[in-house]
Amino acid sequence: MDVEAEKRRAALASADLIENGMRVGLGTGSTVGYLLAELAVRRPRVSYVATSPRTATIMRDAGIEVDPFDALDRLDLAIDGADQITSGGWLIKGGGGAHTREKIVAASADRYVVIADASKFVESLHAPVPLELLAFGVAATLGRLHPSELRAAPRSPDHGVLADYLGVVDDPAALSARLAGTPGVVAHGLFPPSLVTEILLGRGGTLQQITIGGPQ
Ligand code: A5P
Repeated sequence: MDVEAEKRRAALASADLIENGMRVGLGTGSTVGYLLAELAVRRPRVSYVATSPRTATIMRDAGIEVDPFDALDRLDLAIDGADQITSGGWLIKGGGGAHTREKIVAASADRYVVIADASKFVESLHAPVPLELLAFGVAATLGRLHPSELRAAPRSPDHGVLADYLGVVDDPAALSARLAGTPGVVAHGLFPPSLVTEILLGRGGTLQQITIGGPQ
């Protein structure tokens, strides 16, 4: 199985969804990297926002403008990768530490498309669940999130501390509510199906499309 070919297949399919005049959110990661390379070739006339400085830099290095995400209030489309995906549309994101901005972009998009290779498709979600924590009181916050640990990684672009929740994820909705309700948690990496419109999975030599619903 050629994982890189699967990532590229999904990314190229997502590039076909971008039309001139759209406002488009760009995700973060190696799968999105194939999308960015394709956009640098196709150069559609769209407005972009990026979920990370890494993605913004790649686009700007290709001579493509990326807008700050402070004036636009909606996006037509956002495309991003994921670390884990279930058939019901639950995601775990944030392996690259970008999940806070990724979730804001996902929630702001009329259509949110997830691109991945088939290895990301799981029967059920499992740890780690990425966390971004406020630095203030971080040791106390971690104590409320047992079992979890700090990640050996630089701060997020918004100066948050990255960590991972290491417990069971048998009820993602309940865990989402617990994590979101813990003081000191800026954002967690569980993305509910209500955010997700569709999933494009490269699977061997084919593309698998899974419609979830979500915003559209
Ligand atoms: C970034 O924080 C993550 O949410 C990525 O979207 C996710 O890790 C997917 O990355 P890859 O495409 O590199 O697997």
